[in-house]
Amino acid sequence: MRPFDGRRVLLVVSGGIAAYKSAILARRLIEAGASVDVILTESAERFVGAVTFEGITARPVHTSVWDRPMAHLELGKRADVAVVAPATAETLARLAWGRADDLATTTLLAADCPVVLAPAMNTRMWEHAATIRNVQFLQRNGATIVGPGVGPLAEREVGAGRMSEPPEILAAVGRAIASGSALAGRHVVVTAGPTRAPIDPVRFIGNRSSGRMGYALAAAAWRRGAEVTLVTGPGHAVRPPGPATFEVETAGEMLAAVEKALTAADILIMAAAVSDFEAVEIAGSKIKKTTGGELDLKLAPAPDILSRTLGARRERGVFTLGFALETDDALENGRRKLERKGLQLIAINDATDPQSGFDVATNRVSLLDEAGNLEEMPVLSKEELADRLLDRVEGVLET
Ligand code: CTP
Repeated sequence: MRPFDGRRVLLVVSGGIAAYKSAILARRLIEAGASVDVILTESAERFVGAVTFEGITARPVHTSVWDRPMAHLELGKRADVAVVAPATAETLARLAWGRADDLATTTLLAADCPVVLAPAMNTRMWEHAATIRNVQFLQRNGATIVGPGVGPLAEREVGAGRMSEPPEILAAVGRAIASGSALAGRHVVVTAGPTRAPIDPVRFIGNRSSGRMGYALAAAAWRRGAEVTLVTGPGHAVRPPGPATFEVETAGEMLAAVEKALTAADILIMAAAVSDFEAVEIAGSKIKKTTGGELDLKLAPAPDILSRTLGARRERGVFTLGFALETDDALENGRRKLERKGLQLIAINDATDPQSGFDVATNRVSLLDEAGNLEEMPVLSKEELADRLLDRVEGVLET
């Protein structure tokens, strides 16, 4: 299942330059499975046309109360969530004051679904006492405010007021309708990416992990309403919006960050590709080539994070999902890892499979639980797999 399958989203676009990004948001919502109804305010139409949104959503776009007089009640009633992006200072003010003088405000006043607001305006407008009061009022009444970010604005100004990027808004919209997930309110710690073992000030031993699998898991857990701590090594994939993210480099740093996060954790998902070896001695200055000479590097085992946290996890009853990357006897080795590392679930990857593993968009895993139940999953995008894995975690938590 995609995260928005069967969900109806009402996207209200008000008139700001960021409205062009709302077309991308509509596209992302559709890709995630949502059906999207769009309302454009009169001034939004000056920035983007209804045709653009009709093309993307394959549904009629609504612009006036007078097109279909009862549309405002119908649109609000059938939406699972409403998102206003961009939400201009004017729109925020009108929503805060309960105005109902166009289709957007009438519909939102009549809707009883969660509302997500993505403000976009000039910094001085965002920081004005009137806007602060309006935003606080809307927040107190249950609206989720996403952003705004800091960056380039219209008129070549730079500051706070830039509408959040579509992935960030998408995540907030997902989280706003995540009621009912067994993960809601739980604290999930996710590790991701590679670790590096330095050998001198400029070189390190690393691996090809991009972080994408772990980031997909952290994003999906956050979208389901969990409080998420992401501990990541230097992966090159884009960090997910939402989770509290801690950047680390070495296995030792990752161990320290995980130990700290575990004091409040309910679930640990160990998706990081932690280096197994590190240099016994890290040279203080750059190792020079000696003419024709070979270099002997003495390596020692890096800390095994799952083994080192076994006691603390058992004591706190932390549910743990680990990964195993195998080339031979994948299942048998995975089974042993699950026992040795004290896991409740293990996702076993075959490192020789081109559709799974490091730095590819897809993954295929065999999922094994403590009782020995095995589920062979098909090749899935890492995002889809993340949702399937969390479905299993939720299944176990609910029993
Ligand atoms: N792991 C860990 N600390 C390490 C190495 C791995 O916590 N130093 C975790 C990984 O994040 C993963 C699980 O242990 O969830 C299995 O990782 P994998 O690399 O498959 O196993 P290893 O323990 O490294 O064993 P081997 O290399 O012998 O297969």
